[in-house]
Amino acid sequence: MGGSGGNPLLPSNRENRNEQLTGLTRQFKLCLISLGSVIFFIVIAQGLGLGLGLGLGLKHRGPNLSPAQSSTFHVAENDDSRRLLEPWRLDTSEYILDTTTWDINAAPTTRVYNFTLSEIEGAPDGVVRKMFVINGQFPGPLIRANRGDRVIVNVTNHLPEPTTLHWHGMFQNGTNWMDGTAGITQCPIPPGRTFLYNFTIDNQYGTFWYHAHYSTQYLDGLFGPLIVHAPEEAHFRESYDHDQVVIIQDWYHNMSSALLPGYLASGNENREPVPDNGLMQGTNFFNCSSLAVNSGYSCFDNSTRAVISVQKQKRHRIRLINAGAFAAFHFSVDNHTLSVIEADATMVEPLDVHRLEIAVAQRYSVILTANQEETNYWIRADMNTLCFDAKNPVLIPGMKGILAYTDSKEDPKDEKSIDWSDARNVMCQDLNSTSLIPAVQEPAPPADVFYSLQFSFGIREYALDRAYVNGTTWKMSDIPTLNKVVPELRAGNDTFNITGVTPSYDIPNQYIIGIPQSQVVDVLVTNFDEGAHPFHLHGHQFWVMATSWEQYFPWHTYGSLNTTNPVRRDTVTVDAYGWALIRFRSDNPGMWAFHCHVAWHLEAGLMMQFQTRNDLMKDWTLPSDVLELCSA
Ligand code: C2O
Repeated sequence: MGGSGGNPLLPSNRENRNEQLTGLTRQFKLCLISLGSVIFFIVIAQGLGLGLGLGLGLKHRGPNLSPAQSSTFHVAENDDSRRLLEPWRLDTSEYILDTTTWDINAAPTTRVYNFTLSEIEGAPDGVVRKMFVINGQFPGPLIRANRGDRVIVNVTNHLPEPTTLHWHGMFQNGTNWMDGTAGITQCPIPPGRTFLYNFTIDNQYGTFWYHAHYSTQYLDGLFGPLIVHAPEEAHFRESYDHDQVVIIQDWYHNMSSALLPGYLASGNENREPVPDNGLMQGTNFFNCSSLAVNSGYSCFDNSTRAVISVQKQKRHRIRLINAGAFAAFHFSVDNHTLSVIEADATMVEPLDVHRLEIAVAQRYSVILTANQEETNYWIRADMNTLCFDAKNPVLIPGMKGILAYTDSKEDPKDEKSIDWSDARNVMCQDLNSTSLIPAVQEPAPPADVFYSLQFSFGIREYALDRAYVNGTTWKMSDIPTLNKVVPELRAGNDTFNITGVTPSYDIPNQYIIGIPQSQVVDVLVTNFDEGAHPFHLHGHQFWVMATSWEQYFPWHTYGSLNTTNPVRRDTVTVDAYGWALIRFRSDNPGMWAFHCHVAWHLEAGLMMQFQTRNDLMKDWTLPSDVLELCSA
């Protein structure tokens, strides 16, 4: 599948869409919007009297096309005017976490954020497209808090479709209904409505992120970093002077809803749309002339790479987040060793690496010491294209950013900036989990119960290529499973208080495992698909007991697993035709999604739920504002 992905002429079949444009009108509308934005751009540019010479810079690619027809536009711009004219671009200097005035010991407080979600036209890498953004900007704003704080996010949905926001990695202990998982913990927020997310951050700190959890929506721009500090951080801060977030992601030049139908179509053999580009801090270079003559895209020939500034001899903590849809990245910085100190909000003993693999939704903190000659160096985030099923001619998989010791934003010089010679892992695997040793030791207790989950893709009862977990493919329910379960438990209905696989309460397409009391749970996840899948468990961190690229778990090893101090995280990659054994304590009441975080796979149904602590859930009453979302 090519960069324009899917079949642009197929209508979107996404459920619950307000907007039911046919594919054709959608395309046409997009063209008009794109054209409109170029004209708008010119008008504004001239209005500002910037003397940009746009008449010369605007090139039509393609022979004698009338404006209403598709053609690729190139618009040359200089850097500064571009910044002036991009109100939709977040100034990512807010991702620099000041360590001097922020008080990690402050008394608990309430942090209030107002998020207005809207649809805009933007061009993060120069290619104009429709995007979904928060407060008019991309990427999303930083949420920053201390452990113990209450976070209130007032979400106003001005999108043309429903939405939710999920706080990836937050335990939400006692507030499962704030988890933001459409169809599981809430009905989505309808267009035009507001909803207040309100939760307290207990017992955790580190690097998290938030993102929309409705269909594949987050990859259209709805995500941002969520950083939680704690007094314990003082100790770790002794080993770094600066702290900042760096978000990397893959990027498509189309709305995800336009790419989905082509992906799910039967006969497509689970070929995920291949990204068109990568972004670092929401920006990257793109070569407009690589677009086909009649691609239909407008493209500004002035895209820029991310610049991360460092100070000579200072130690910089980089909190890396892969907020992408599909691609795993190899991350490295030329000439600089990286010291890994955090994985998914678990502080680990420093581990020196030249390159690290990071799957979708994972986070790592690395310390980079700026001890090299004062010039610029490449930051490399290479997409692992070996994990893609197809090729995209416009994709340059080796995304680069610039590590700058000086004010210069110039490209690093070949003779100064030297890539590490270490081989890239070709297998789409996680950074070896056994080399990650949590700094705070927590032995894995013996398991009380064991569940096996097996997944694969197939065309079974639907005329679409869907994912199946133990034979069930997930589809968003109109009634969130939480809303169904809580009142029945309250009423003492034992049908809803089940140990093991539940009858899914007559809600179609749900696979639910009930663990009524607090227990230690082993889950063996076996992958019968040829791709690697990063699995995320909501509301918990799990111990990664073991992973393998071999198809079957060697049962003779079950009694001798290393339980001393295995790494704890919330997202683990299950290797192609391999397995992962995870262990968690089901001490957090609620309905918790467990799913592959590749946005395409999630939408194809690669998700199940754990229903935990009925003994506590039976006393719950869901807040009326949460319930009300379902009656809209
Ligand atoms: Cu990042 Cu279901 O979540």
